[in-house]
Amino acid sequence: MIGPRFGGKVAIVTGAGQGIGRQIASDLADEGATVIICDINPTYIEEAIAEIIARGGKASPGLCDVSDRAQIDKLIAAVTAAHSHLDILVNNAGILIPATIEETTDQIIDRTIDINLKAVLWMIRAVTPIMKKARYGRIVNISSITGKNGDNTSTFAYGATKGAVMSLTRSVARQLGPFGVTCNAVAPHAIMTKMMMYWDEAKKKVASDKIPVRRLGTPSDVARAVLYLASDEASFVNGEVLNINGGYYMD
Ligand SMILES: NC(=O)c1ccc[n+]([C@@H]2O[C@H](COP(=O)([O-])OP(=O)(O)OC[C@H]3O[C@@H](n4cnc5c(N)ncnc54)[C@H](O)[C@@H]3O)[C@@H](O)[C@H]2O)c1
Repeated sequence: MIGPRFGGKVAIVTGAGQGIGRQIASDLADEGATVIICDINPTYIEEAIAEIIARGGKASPGLCDVSDRAQIDKLIAAVTAAHSHLDILVNNAGILIPATIEETTDQIIDRTIDINLKAVLWMIRAVTPIMKKARYGRIVNISSITGKNGDNTSTFAYGATKGAVMSLTRSVARQLGPFGVTCNAVAPHAIMTKMMMYWDEAKKKVASDKIPVRRLGTPSDVARAVLYLASDEASFVNGEVLNINGGYYMD
C-alpha cells in the first residue's frame, strides 16, 4: 500500500498563517507532513494549527519574525531538537507595499529586502547543514512575476527582491544538488489574498481580462505547484522557476 505523499516528512513554511503560505501548509499536512507554521502573527498561527489539527493533520507553532536572523536560527535549532530531521523548507513569507518610486522610503526598502530577500538567504543557510547531512532536502521559494517583468503598483524594491530570489534559487540548486537537496521557485501573479486587497474590483477585472484563462489565481493554484516541487516526484527538477499566472506572462 502506498502511504501519503509527505508521510514522515517535516516541513517548515514561512508566512504560513495566512494566504498562500497557509494553503501550502494545510495541503502538506493533508498529505501527511508534520508542518511548522512559521509566522510573525501568533493569532494567525493558532488559527492555522487549529484548522490543520481539526482535519487530522500534524502541525506545530513557529512564531518568528523572519526579518530577524537570530529568531530564524532559534527556530531552526528548536525544530531540529524536536524532530530528528527537516525535509522541506518553503520560503513564502513576504510583504508588498504599494508605492511609487518617490514614495519608497528607506524604511520601505529595508523592510522589503529584509523579509523578502535576506530572510530567504538566512533560512536556507540555517537548514543547509541539516539537509546536507541527511543528503535530502526540498527547498521551494515563492518569487513573483514582478521579479521577471517588473510592476507598476508595488514598490520597485518588491520586484528587485523577487528577481534576486530567482537568482539565489539557481545558486542553491547548483551548490546543494550534489547533496540530494533541490531548490526551485514559483513565480505567481494575481493570487487573491490579503496582500492583493489594494486591488479594487475595476483593477481585478482589468487584470483577469489580460489573463488567457480569464480568471484571477487562488492560493490553491500556487500550493499544488509547490507541493509538486517539494515532492519526491520532482527529484530531477532543480533550479527551476515555475510561472503560475494563467498564461499572462510566458517565457
Ligand atoms: N498574492 C499574490 O498575488 C502574489 C503574487 C506573487 C508572489 N506572491 C508572494 O507569495 C507570498 C505569500 O503572499 P500572500 O499573498 O499569501 O501574502 P499575505 O499577506 O496574504 O500573507 C503573508 C503572510 O506572511 C506573514 N509574514 C509577514 N511578514 C512576516 C515576517 N517578517 N516573518 C514571518 N511571517 C511574516 C504574514 O503574517 C502573513 O501570514 C509572498 O512572498 C508574496 O510576495 C504573492
